[in-house]
Amino acid sequence: MGSQIFHGDNLAVLESLPAGSVNLIYIDPPFGTGQVRSHRRIKTGSGDATRSGFGGRTYQYETVSQLAYRDDMPLDEYLAFLRVRLEQMHRVLTDDGSIYVHVDFHAVHHVRLLLDDIFGEERFLNEIIWAYDYGGRHRDRWPRKHDNILYYSKGPRWTFNRDDIDRIPYMAPGLVGPEKAAIGKLPTDVWWMTIVPTNSKERTGYPTQKPVALIERIIRASSNHGEVVADFFGGSGTTAVAAQRLGRDYLYVDSNEEALAIARERLASGTAPDG
Ligand SMILES: C[S@@+](CC[C@H](N)C(=O)[O-])C[C@H]1O[C@@H](n2cnc3c(N)ncnc32)[C@H](O)[C@@H]1O
Repeated sequence: MGSQIFHGDNLAVLESLPAGSVNLIYIDPPFGTGQVRSHRRIKTGSGDATRSGFGGRTYQYETVSQLAYRDDMPLDEYLAFLRVRLEQMHRVLTDDGSIYVHVDFHAVHHVRLLLDDIFGEERFLNEIIWAYDYGGRHRDRWPRKHDNILYYSKGPRWTFNRDDIDRIPYMAPGLVGPEKAAIGKLPTDVWWMTIVPTNSKERTGYPTQKPVALIERIIRASSNHGEVVADFFGGSGTTAVAAQRLGRDYLYVDSNEEALAIARERLASGTAPDG
C-alpha cells in the first residue's frame, strides 16, 4: 500500500480503506476527559503578559504557540463516536492483525466492553499498564500514574515477535545468574517508561504526545518488516515515526492541521528520540 498521510475525519478515511489491508493498529483517541487538551509554549522576556516566578519575582512573557484539540464529548456520544470507528478498524485489519487502544481511567472500563463486543471477548490478549512518574500528585488518594492499553487480535492467530522485543533489567539480577542478567528479561504487561521529557529533543509540544519507545515496542512485537501500521488518531505522528524507523509502512490520520504539520516535519527529518 505504501505510507500515507491523511488530513480529515478518520471515519471517512477508514471507510475508504479496503478490508483486510492493515496489519497493526495503534490508536490513542481522546480519552473522554471532558476538557480541551492544550499545550502552550511561551517565550519570556517580552510580551504583554506577566507571571510570577521563583522568589516572587514577576516577568513578562508572550504565547508563541497554542496547540489544542477537543476532548469534551459527553460519555454516550464519545462511546458512539468510538464504536463506529472501532467497527471500521476491525474491518480493515488483516485476519492475523491486532489492535492496541490507548486509554486511561476515564474510559478504560467502557472501551473494554466496546472491544469485547466488536472483536469478541475471546480476542482480548492483554491490558497493558503503562506506568510513568511525572506531574502533580493527589494528596487525598494514590497518584494516578498509569495509562491502559487494551490489546486485541482480530482472529485466532496473530503476530507476536517475542524475540524482537527490547529487554529490561531483572528486578533481582542476583537470583538469575550473570548470563541471564546480562540479557535482561521480557517485559510483562506492566511497562515502566518515562513520558516524553519536557526538555528532550523528541518533544514536539503537541498535547498528549506519546514516547516513540512505547510505540516501537508495540510495532516490533506485533508487526513484521514491510507490513502496514496505522494510527487513526495520529497527533504528533509518533506511530508513523516509529513505523518509519522500523521499516514498516504507516497510515497516519488526524483532523487537526497543526498535528499534521508537526507529524510531517518529524517524518521528513526522521527525528530520532534521545539516546
Ligand atoms: C491523544 S491525541 C494523539 C496523540 C498521539 N498519540 C501522539 O503521540 O502525538 C488524539 C488525536 O486525535 C485527533 N482526532 C480526534 N478526533 C479525530 C477524528 N475524528 N479524526 C481524526 N483525528 C481525530 C486529535 O486531533 C488528536 O491529535
